[in-house]
Amino acid sequence: MSGATQRRSRIAVYPGSFDPVTRGHEDLIRRSLAFVDQVVVAVAVNAAKQPLFSVEERVALLQQAVRAPGIEVQAFEGLLVNFARRVDASVIVRGLRAVSDFEYEFQMALMNRNLDPKLETVFLVPAFDLTYLSSSLVREVARYGGDVSQLVHPAVQQALKQKFAT
Ligand code: PNS
Repeated sequence: MSGATQRRSRIAVYPGSFDPVTRGHEDLIRRSLAFVDQVVVAVAVNAAKQPLFSVEERVALLQQAVRAPGIEVQAFEGLLVNFARRVDASVIVRGLRAVSDFEYEFQMALMNRNLDPKLETVFLVPAFDLTYLSSSLVREVARYGGDVSQLVHPAVQQALKQKFAT
């Protein structure tokens, strides 16, 4: 590529609690690669009040679930915009599943823009059959011994089984 046409690679940050990662998250991470060169999955250390999985466990499960070129997983603490700057991301990716997500996501997108006007938030819609999937529902079903094999990667299913084995 000549100097005139050369462009910097486009990096997106996909932040969340991922407690644990679901097939819905995996779907969005892969969809993001349609319009960016690299996705940095950013696991919030302090997001969930009392996460079921430690941040190290959440990162490790993501690494197993979304192993592919162009995808990187990192933990972050503090403001998302600062982390995005550190990894040179120009886009924040978030998923929108239902109207109920909208209020919170809209507030967050506006606040992040306020903090860093150069960072653009992009909302992606998950695959139809994953629309009503959430980490909290997965935790709830797994806690009571329900089958989550269609909802999470086998490594996550195994980790949930171990967490709730007593
Ligand atoms: O999966 P979640 O819990 O909906 O993710 C929320 C998350 C981690 C993206 C959000 O809480 C966040 O960005 N936390 C980092 C702190 C921050 O930057 N807060 C201001 C955003 S408005």
